[in-house]
Amino acid sequence: MKAVILAGGTGSRLFPTTYVINKHLLPIYNKPMIYYPLSLVMLVRIREVVFVVNHEDIPLYKKLFGEGEELGMKIMYAVQEKPLGLAHALLSTEKYINQDSVCLVLGDNIFFGHGIAEILFQAKGDVEKNGGAYVFGYFVNDPERYGVVEFDSEGKVISIEEKPKNPKSNFAVVGLYFYDNTVFEKAKKIKPSWRGELEITSVNEEYLKEGKLKVKLLGRGFAWFDAGTHDSFLEAGEFVATIEKKTGLMIGCIEEIAYRNGWISKQKLEEIAKRLSKTDYGEYLARILKE
Ligand code: G1P
Repeated sequence: MKAVILAGGTGSRLFPTTYVINKHLLPIYNKPMIYYPLSLVMLVRIREVVFVVNHEDIPLYKKLFGEGEELGMKIMYAVQEKPLGLAHALLSTEKYINQDSVCLVLGDNIFFGHGIAEILFQAKGDVEKNGGAYVFGYFVNDPERYGVVEFDSEGKVISIEEKPKNPKSNFAVVGLYFYDNTVFEKAKKIKPSWRGELEITSVNEEYLKEGKLKVKLLGRGFAWFDAGTHDSFLEAGEFVATIEKKTGLMIGCIEEIAYRNGWISKQKLEEIAKRLSKTDYGEYLARILKE
């Protein structure tokens, strides 16, 4: 399986902050927003990632991640020419994904919770073995802002709708999806929505029609942020700061994960820690080296 992380778009809900800088490069507390979704795909041991970015941002992303050598990964870049929806963005990665299955993550989604890596790992294994799609629901008080999934009394999914005016449940579909390779065929088949976009929800509906959509609920012990507005952006930063200060453990520390996964050497981590030595981040990496 390969991963696709969507990091393009205009960031219009964060204007004027995002007039000249891409949203996903802004800091959530002590690291760029994009580190958080990247850390998740690393936790499920996906080593090849395609970032979908705006054309003008390619040099910035390359400066940050190169081709992935510092993380022992392969990082590729695809350009989304126009903001025509998440499914449209996914289509721009087809030649990189080839025949493989895909983990799609929205670059502004931040997850935290005990056992999240195991849950995602299980979903990844399921899609690799049995095909289909695997998505996650999370109880929210403003479902009309999201994709919404409805269940029957036995917990079977009966519908999935994008930003419904009258939501049929409070379960939002979070921005992390596992798909088999038929996702590309499905994304080509769907029609634009009322907002003129190829919606990822329409792709999920195609899987639902085929009886191949699995939805797992993330319970109240999980935190999920879609950091795309000023408020949620601030909340996510405060949340990360609180947890990191309390536990002394970092959320979304990509170098730590690369090292623990055995993808980079001790020497490499030392080199990175030295470069960051003036920061808490560097001190944290130095501490890991002493373990
Ligand atoms: C997108 C998806 C929506 C999903 C949400 C999660 O919404 O279209 O289904 O629930 O991400 O963050 P958008 O960010 O395009 O408003």
